[in-house]
Amino acid sequence: MVRVLFVCLGNICRSPMAEAVFRNLVTEKGLSSHIEIDSAGTGSWHQGKPPHEGTRSKLDELSISYEGMTARQVNANDFTSFDYVIAMDEQNMHDIKTTYQMNDEVIVRRLMDFVPNPREENVPDPYFTGDFDYTYELVEQASNELLEYIINKHQLKG
Ligand code: 4NP
Repeated sequence: MVRVLFVCLGNICRSPMAEAVFRNLVTEKGLSSHIEIDSAGTGSWHQGKPPHEGTRSKLDELSISYEGMTARQVNANDFTSFDYVIAMDEQNMHDIKTTYQMNDEVIVRRLMDFVPNPREENVPDPYFTGDFDYTYELVEQASNELLEYIINKHQLKG
């Protein structure tokens, strides 16, 4: 089992979007029994809340499920139990690395690091930009690249 955790600041806009989009891709490829997916925020303000209305409406438009997803804060266990911790931006990476003890084997990267010649290095935060469409475009492209990377690295077959 390969375990992937997406991390942003609030866990209501970007990382739940990435979790839902990535899970949808994994399901389409028939890899659900090989890859486990979750998301969390470095902040605790929105714990227990569903994804932001903007994220929900984008996912609804595309018929991508976010059923049962609620926000939670990252915790020390995440950095020993997940294989991949995928941050949305540089600040999330910095906060994770300075706050938690990392298991040596855990791969901590930004989502856009998996895209060759990315349009952005950080996933813009639609909580502040209001542009959920642009954030989705980046998340979707990068999620495909991340999944290809994981499939190749772990020799997964659906
Ligand atoms: P996210 O966006 O990190 O993509 O979930 C945010 C959501 C809430 C806040 C900041 C960013 N906030 O400050 O409450």
